[in-house]
Amino acid sequence: MSMDTPKLPPCDHLPKPYEGPTYDEVLRLKNRYMTPTSVPFYTTPLMIVEGSMQYLFDDKGRRYLDAIGGIVTISVGHCHPYVVQRVKEQTDRLQHITSIYLHPNVARYAEMLAGKLPGDLSVCYFMNSGSEANDMALLMARLYTGNTDVVALQNAYHGGGASTMQLTANSAWKYNTPQHFGVHHAINPNPYRGLWGYDDPDAGAKYAAEIKNVIDYATPGRVAAFIAESIQGVGGAVVYPEGFLERTYGYIRDAGGLCIADEVQTGFTRTGTHYWGFENHGVIPDIVTMAKGIGNGVPLAAVVTTPGIAAVLSSRIHFNTFGGNPVSCAAGMAVLEVIDRENLQKNALERGHELMEGYRKLMARHEIIGDVRGRGLMTGIELVKDRRTKEPAREACLRVFERLKDLGVLVGKGGLHSNTLRIKPPMCITRDDVEFLLEALDMAIGEP
Ligand SMILES: Cc1ncc(COP(=O)(O)O)c(C=O)c1O
Repeated sequence: MSMDTPKLPPCDHLPKPYEGPTYDEVLRLKNRYMTPTSVPFYTTPLMIVEGSMQYLFDDKGRRYLDAIGGIVTISVGHCHPYVVQRVKEQTDRLQHITSIYLHPNVARYAEMLAGKLPGDLSVCYFMNSGSEANDMALLMARLYTGNTDVVALQNAYHGGGASTMQLTANSAWKYNTPQHFGVHHAINPNPYRGLWGYDDPDAGAKYAAEIKNVIDYATPGRVAAFIAESIQGVGGAVVYPEGFLERTYGYIRDAGGLCIADEVQTGFTRTGTHYWGFENHGVIPDIVTMAKGIGNGVPLAAVVTTPGIAAVLSSRIHFNTFGGNPVSCAAGMAVLEVIDRENLQKNALERGHELMEGYRKLMARHEIIGDVRGRGLMTGIELVKDRRTKEPAREACLRVFERLKDLGVLVGKGGLHSNTLRIKPPMCITRDDVEFLLEALDMAIGEP
């Protein structure tokens, strides 16, 4: 293996010279005037001022391969020219009216989006964030079923709002406030760390039986809903064993509940094989929630459900000022068009295969890699101190994460112990980018 630093593939985009406030000034303003809700991502925080497709540029003009896409939000590429064009056209003409008037964008977009979903999932409600979408899904499920209890999974992330923080199940993201109100967390169907592993062909059934236990022992036997990400995102790209979701959906429906798929990270072809992550599990949910990649960086989210379930909202008025905003919907339509036109599902599948193949080779070379997993461009590499005990290698993960940034690659990290590298790039990533990313990983992981 050469000791040369891996080279970013060439790129035509020349960033404009940055002429805004200095790095130090921005840092000072942030620290002085913004809530301390998040810790900076790097020891020396990055200031990113420009983007083009899979690349980002900092204030000094340095280019990075963005392998996390603003936390899985850049689906088709930073400032994708077609999305930008449609947003600009709509911004010039009309930015906002809200739902009290008709507008063609929201109506046309609802039809387009519904056309991407299977079964009877054909009615859309638009909002601005994943937390809002999951909050609405909970409301719908409780109204429709007349039940209160909701089953979610340990290690899930469904948002940081008052109701969605209840669903989220990782102490790092839960403030010390009353949190339950009918939400129960079943053990996580994690075949790497959980009770039943990759080598157990019945793992899916066994984890699903735990859901049934929660229904039987922790609820009145009737539930409003089950909610799960199709692959856990913030939790570190955890892929459930085969049959888990299918059986779980059966238990939940037997208990009168609805099944909610949180597609905030896994939707819009990211998993490569299908448009939606749940399709990999052979299930059709009753409610699907989406955000992030839906707008490629424009605030947009949606809940899609059946006409029967949506009808429960007619008993009152529900209002979301920016829901279905003409500019956001213009972006949403453009994203759907670009995914099809540029065949991004196929690219997610092919580049995803290359990544996984590369990870397996790295795993053979680096003892610290305990598990590699994912589907399409929704992947993770879990680092452990010892493959037998699986003790999380948190500090090493942080070191690799920082080193990757110095080598020109931005990734995420996740899981309860922050020991999983999360790699979920924009779906326009190329084969050369993948090669570069794997070389950078090899170097960063291999260094002491
Ligand atoms: C799976 C999942 N659901 C919901 C959310 C919440 O979305 P938002 O941050 O837009 O409220 C997130 C955010 O990371 C997510 O990953």
